[in-house]
Amino acid sequence: MTKQAERLRSFVREHARRARVLAITSGKGGVGKTSTSVNLAIALAAQDQRVAILDADLGLANVEVLLGLNSLYNLQHVVDGEKTLLETLVQGPGGIHIIPGSSGMAKFADLGEAERERLIGGMTELQEDMDFLIVDTMAGIGKNAVSFATAADEVLVVCTPEPSSIVDGYTMIKTVFQQRDDSAVSLIVNMAANKEQAQAVANKIGHVTRQYLNHGLSYHGYILRDPHVSQAVMQSAPLLLRYPNAPASACITRLAARLLQHRPPNNSGETTGFLRRFAQTLGLASNG
Ligand SMILES: Nc1ncnc2c1ncn2[C@@H]1O[C@H](COP(=O)(O)OP(=O)(O)OP(=O)(O)O)[C@@H](O)[C@H]1O
Ligand SMILES: [Mg+2]
Repeated sequence: MTKQAERLRSFVREHARRARVLAITSGKGGVGKTSTSVNLAIALAAQDQRVAILDADLGLANVEVLLGLNSLYNLQHVVDGEKTLLETLVQGPGGIHIIPGSSGMAKFADLGEAERERLIGGMTELQEDMDFLIVDTMAGIGKNAVSFATAADEVLVVCTPEPSSIVDGYTMIKTVFQQRDDSAVSLIVNMAANKEQAQAVANKIGHVTRQYLNHGLSYHGYILRDPHVSQAVMQSAPLLLRYPNAPASACITRLAARLLQHRPPNNSGETTGFLRRFAQTLGLASNG
């Protein structure tokens, strides 16, 4: 290959579009990770972004249940070599894509070499096809949620103004920084009574994060407590499409706009970080 062709090829490789990987996590359950993941995805898709949600939350109210979908295949079929990851993609409302998780994901740590390669290979393909990959994780500092949070480009921690949610949110933030010092962590305050209450929660968590962890915590924004959210859930329809003018929809649209405007400074240049870290996590996990 000529020098010029070689340069062109490495230019293309470096500038290939790859999905920004966002992990949506929380310390406490039931704070709105899944509804935030789904609606944020739809808000981003409305801004011409290609978005996939990886449903890594295997609880009862998972992404598929929330949207009234029923998939045939999930990540287990990918790991077992029966389907490619792109073949498991389910079309969701509003132009989003969903990769259904499986209970096998809890066993990531035990994957063999071939299985790990299938998973990483699938993720590579997916990352090239999407602008955003949103990982809806399980609540709490379990190995699975923390692995995704550590591998992701950005971690969005969701908490509510409840004291227990604040304490558990801080524990999650602490765990993420302990695993990876240069994590880009932001906070979303959900179910806020108003902007001021959300800001007070963000100030409180930001303060302890600075004081005890010596890390900055960026405040991504808030979502108002809004009965339309559960009404949409009851109808298996996404809030943003069912009630586009609801107060919570406006908040989510703002969160999406902010994501498009801001990229955390520490990962703006690196496009392959997630896969490398994800592979590392799987590799490390399998060794211990
Ligand atoms: N902004 C909001 N206003 C009112 N209700 C909300 C709001 N956000 C979420 N909810 C309600 O809270 C409940 C939990 O939401 P969701 O399932 O998204 O939480 P989760 O963090 O994913 O839970 P889990 O930890 O079980 O996975 C749902 O019934 C949803 O309708
Ligand atoms: Mg959930």
